Order: sequence, then structure tokens, then C-alpha cells
Amino acid sequence: MSGHNIFPKWSNKLPAFILAGLLGAGSVVVVIFWYWFSPANLNVGYQPKQPIPYSHRLHAGELGIDCRYCHTGVEKSPTAGIPPTETCMNCHKLIKKNSPHIIKLRESFSKNVPIEWVRVHQLPDYAYFDHSRHINSGVSCVSCHGRIDQMETVRQVKPLSMGWCLDCHRDPVPHLRPKSEVTNMDWVTPSNQEEEGLKLKALYHVNPREDCTTCHR
Ligand code: HEC
Ligand code: HEC
Ligand code: HEC
Ligand code: HEC
Ligand code: HEC
Repeated sequence: MSGHNIFPKWSNKLPAFILAGLLGAGSVVVVIFWYWFSPANLNVGYQPKQPIPYSHRLHAGELGIDCRYCHTGVEKSPTAGIPPTETCMNCHKLIKKNSPHIIKLRESFSKNVPIEWVRVHQLPDYAYFDHSRHINSGVSCVSCHGRIDQMETVRQVKPLSMGWCLDCHRDPVPHLRPKSEVTNMDWVTPSNQEEEGLKLKALYHVNPREDCTTCHR
């Protein structure tokens, strides 16, 4: 899954090990050290080639299909989920059925062999993330994934580092919008966002935590 990791697999375990020690010792100095020296641009720009050139620009952008049509878990579970071939076949049984890419899609469907999409965003095992908590607080996909609806091929645009997570947990107000707009890629931040954001923060009871066990459990 984490094919893009530049470190050998065992190094993934190392921070987990140190972390266990830290949570026990609760050493503030060490934490500050980790915070400042952790890499700031982890995997930004990572854009793997996919087995089928599925385009978000076309489907989510031009055709305007809502993110939740395919990423069905995003509002109710930690993971967003990648759609099964069946979802694509709702349309591609008929649309472009003779294109070589769609023939590949049809084979995946009839043989019941999933397409092996390459994972783009991936946190290390020792960090916990939950989509539903963010979506239900009025944080849009755009804040963390950028304008996916303009991407021919998905690319990581944010560092997904601990510092990046905490920046928003400390001050989520600039990122809050009405829940009904979380998948609206064209939503424009109002000029009085500070005021609107504060209202939403109260309305949705948004109070992101910063203690270690929120994300390391
Ligand atoms: C018709 C189905 C469909 C729709 C609609 C759709 N996606 Fe996707 N999405 C996919 C598929 C298939 C993949 C896996 C292949 C890829 O990465 O392009 C994917 C991958 C992604 C990824 C990368 C996942 C990873 O591996 O890290 C993100 C982020 C994403 N989609 C966000 C969105 C957002 C935001 C929207 C709405 C603006 C959206 N998607 C709409 C089908 C869809
Ligand atoms: C709501 C309908 C719909 C769904 C669902 C859908 N597509 Fe499409 N797809 C289209 C339309 C419409 C086109 C554009 C056809 C054209 O160019 O005439 C298209 C084009 C494509 C193309 C380009 C085909 C070519 O050779 O020009 C690919 C590849 C593709 N889709 C893959 C997928 C995959 C993979 C999924 C599932 C993750 C998916 N589509 C889901 C409607 C859909
Ligand atoms: C607060 C930041 C944030 C928001 C908001 C967010 N994501 Fe993500 N997304 C992430 C992170 C972080 C990962 C990697 C998670 C991991 O590796 O455990 C991820 C992974 C994904 C993946 C691939 C793995 C999975 O969960 O299935 C998809 C697809 C995805 N996001 C789609 C979306 C869509 C669609 C939206 C909006 C409806 C959205 N995300 C909103 C941060 C976010
Ligand atoms: C753009 C803003 C933003 C970013 C970026 C962000 N978060 Fe959050 N996070 C929130 C908000 C808002 C909440 C909801 C807090 C609440 O419900 O009170 C939240 C809640 C959470 C929760 C649920 C906490 C609980 O009480 O169970 C977890 C876990 C979490 N975030 C992890 C992460 C991780 C890991 C990252 C980085 C990969 C991240 N977040 C990045 C805004 C953000
Ligand atoms: C909002 C979520 C969040 C909170 C709260 C959080 N972390 Fe993290 N932490 C992360 C994420 C995400 C990573 C993984 C970043 C990466 O890919 O390297 C991480 C990585 C780490 C690492 C590995 C080294 C590094 O910087 O990459 C250590 C050690 C760590 N955290 C310690 C802590 C401690 C101690 C606390 C409490 C003071 C804490 N974290 C609170 C999200 C969080």
C-alpha cells in the first residue's frame, strides 16, 4: 500500500516505538523537537500513474458527479473508500463501451477482479485519521485534497504532516463552511469568513483536540 515510502518498511515502526515512550514520559521538550524537525513537505506532489486513466476533472468537474457517489464512506466512517468497478458500470455498461479503458473496466467487472488503484494519500500506521469527524464539522475535501475536480490524475497537495494537522486543530475557523457545501468545489469563502466560521464552530460544536491520543491511540 505504501509503495511510495522512501524509507525501508521497518523505519515505519521506529516512530511508533518512540511514540510509546513519549506518551509514557510526556516529555514536552522532545515533542517540540519532533514538531519542528518533522519534515514539512511529506509527499507533496506525489501523483502515481493509475491502472486506468480515470479523470476527476471529467467526472467530478465537467459531469459534476458528487464525491459521495463514489466515496460513500466519507460522511459516516473513518475512511472515504474507493468505489468498486460496479459503481463505474452504472454508466459504462453503455457509455464508451468500446474504448480500450472501458473494456478493461468491463473485464474487471465480469471476472470480479478489482482494479488495483494506487493509493495516493497515506498516513503512517501510528497516526489515526477519521473522515466523518471532519466532514460533519463542515471541513471540505478542498482543505485537505485541493481542487480534485480539476485534476486529470490525483495528486497530493498538502503535507499531511503532524504540524499541518495541528495548525488547523488550533484554529479551524478559516476552514469551516456549511455542511451542505463540503463537496462543493466551487464554494467561495465569504469575505466575513471569520464571523461565519465562528457561528458554524458554535453550531456544530467544533472543538478539535490537540492531545496526543487524539491521533495516536
Ligand atoms: C465516479 C467516481 C468518483 C467520483 C465522483 C469521485 N471520485 Fe475520487 N476517486 C475515484 C477513484 C476510482 C479513485 C482511485 C483512482 C485515483 O486515485 O484516481 C479516486 C481517488 C480519489 C482520491 C485519492 C485517494 C488516495 O488514494 O489517496 C481522492 C482524494 C479523491 N478521489 C477525492 C475525490 C473528491 C474530493 C471528489 C469530489 C469532488 C471525488 N473524489 C469524486 C472515483 C471517484
Ligand atoms: C454518472 C456516469 C459515470 C460514472 C459513474 C462513471 N463514468 Fe466514466 N465517463 C462517463 C462519461 C459521460 C464519460 C465521457 C464519455 C465521452 O467522452 O463521450 C466518461 C469517460 C470515462 C473514461 C474515458 C473513456 C475514453 O476512452 O474516452 C474513462 C477511462 C472512465 N470514464 C472511467 C470511469 C471509471 C473508472 C469509473 C468508476 C470509478 C467511471 N468512469 C464512472 C460517465 C461516467
Ligand atoms: C481534514 C483533512 C481531510 C478532509 C477534509 C478530507 N480528507 Fe480525504 N484524506 C485525508 C487524509 C489524511 C487521508 C489519508 C488517511 C490515512 O492514510 O489514514 C485521506 C484519504 C482519502 C482517500 C483514500 C483513503 C480512504 O479513506 O479511502 C480518499 C478516497 C479521500 N481521502 C477522499 C476524500 C473526500 C471525497 C473528501 C471530502 C468529502 C475528503 N477526503 C476530505 C484528509 C482529508
Ligand atoms: C482543515 C482543518 C483540519 C485539518 C487539516 C485536520 N483536522 Fe482533524 N479535525 C478538524 C476538526 C474541525 C475536527 C472536529 C473536532 C470536533 O468535532 O470537535 C477534527 C477532528 C479530528 C479527529 C477526531 C477527534 C476526536 O475527538 O475523536 C481526529 C482523530 C483528527 N481530527 C485527526 C486529524 C489528523 C491526523 C489530521 C492530519 C492528517 C487532521 N486531523 C487534520 C480539523 C482539521
Ligand atoms: C491532530 C493529529 C495529531 C496530534 C494531536 C498529534 N499528532 Fe503526532 N503525528 C500526527 C501525524 C499525522 C503524524 C505523521 C506525520 C508523518 O507522516 O510523518 C504524526 C507523527 C508523530 C511522530 C513521529 C515523528 C514525526 O514528527 O513525524 C511523533 C513522535 C508524534 N507524532 C508525537 C506526538 C505527540 C507526543 C503528540 C502530543 C503532544 C502528538 N504527536 C499529537 C498527528 C498528530
